[in-house]
Amino acid sequence: MSRFWSKVVHGLTPYTPGEQVQMPNLVKLNTNENPYGPSPRAIAAMQAAVGDGLRKYSDPSNAGLKDAVARRFGLTREQVFVGNSSDEVLAHTFHALLKHELPLLRPDISYSFYPTYCSLYGIESLELPLNERFEVDVADYHRPCGAIIIANPNAPTGIALPLAQIEALLQSHPDQPVVIDEAYVDFGGESAAALLHRYDNLLVIQTLSKSRSLAGLRVGFALGHPDLIAGLERVKNSFNCYPLGQVQQAGAIAALDDVAYTEQTSQAIIASRTWLTSQMQALGFDVLPSHANFIFTRHPQRDGAQLAAALRERAILVRHFKSPRIDQFLRISIGTDEECGKLVDALKAILA
Ligand SMILES: Cc1ncc(COP(=O)(O)O)c(C=O)c1O
Repeated sequence: MSRFWSKVVHGLTPYTPGEQVQMPNLVKLNTNENPYGPSPRAIAAMQAAVGDGLRKYSDPSNAGLKDAVARRFGLTREQVFVGNSSDEVLAHTFHALLKHELPLLRPDISYSFYPTYCSLYGIESLELPLNERFEVDVADYHRPCGAIIIANPNAPTGIALPLAQIEALLQSHPDQPVVIDEAYVDFGGESAAALLHRYDNLLVIQTLSKSRSLAGLRVGFALGHPDLIAGLERVKNSFNCYPLGQVQQAGAIAALDDVAYTEQTSQAIIASRTWLTSQMQALGFDVLPSHANFIFTRHPQRDGAQLAAALRERAILVRHFKSPRIDQFLRISIGTDEECGKLVDALKAILA
C-alpha cells in the first residue's frame, strides 16, 4: 500500500502462480510444465542465435515467427499474432477485444488470470457456473453478451468441449468475439483453428509452454481474422514494440517446425495420463476426464489441502486451489513415468 499508487492499483487482485521452488529430489507436478524438455532443434537454434546480432533490436513485426505459426496452421501471416507468452497475448486480447457494453461471459471455474485481466482493464464479466460434472454448459452462453472466453480444454478441470459446441457458440454470436484459449489442446483436444476460415469472430490462443516444453521461453500466439489481429497489434504497439527477443523467436520457430518431436512427447504424456488415471481410480480417487497434461482429482474421504500438504512433505508438489467448489481437488501435472510412479507410491503410503 502506498499513497503513490494510482487508484486502479489499489483495486487489483494479482494472479498467484504455482510455486517455483528449489528442493533436492523434488517431483514438481504443480505448474503443468512438460517433463520431456524442448526439441533439441529448438535448443540448437537458440544457441545459434546468441551472438553479435543481439546488439540490434529484434524484428518488431516478428515476421519469421508469424510465418512459422502460419505454416503450422495453414494460415497467412496476417492471421497470426505472437507475444511474450500466451498470458501476454491474453492480456492484449482482453484489452483490445473483450471490453464492451454488455458483459464478457466466462466459466466460474477456469484459468484464474481471466478475472485478474477483467479487473486490470475494467471489464464487466459474468461468471457462468460449470455444471455438476464440472463441464462448461454451452447452452448457458446462448444469451446476449459483449464477448465470450472459454479455455478448451478447460483449466483446472482438463475437460474438453467438442468442436461442434464451439461452432454453435460462434454461430449464435456472429457480432461478438469468441476467444478459445487452447493452452492444452495438443494433449487430445480438438482445435478451433479448423473453424477460422468460416468465422471472423473467432480468436484461438495457444502457447509454446506446454506441448513444446518451453514454459521458460515465454512464447504464445493468437490465430484469427486479420481485423482481430490488427486490433491486437494496435494494443501491442502501444505497449512494447519488441516483446519477443531474437533468441526467443529462433527457438520458437524451430520448436514449431519440429512437429514430430511435439507429437512424440505429447503422445507419451497422454499414455502416462491414462496410466496415472487408472492408478488413482484404483486408490479410490475420482478423476475428471482430462484432455490436458494434468488431471484434476479428489478423494471422497480425504481433504484436498491435507493431501497436498502430505505430498509436499514427501517433496512432491501438486496444485491445490482454495476456491469454492474445487477446494477438495488436486491438480496434478503429468510427469515422467518415474515421477508418476513416485506420486502413486506416496499416495498409497498416505492413504494406508
Ligand atoms: C488455460 C491457460 N491459458 C494460458 C496459460 C498461460 O500460459 P503461458 O503464459 O505460459 O503461455 C496457462 C498457464 O498455465 C493456462 O493454464
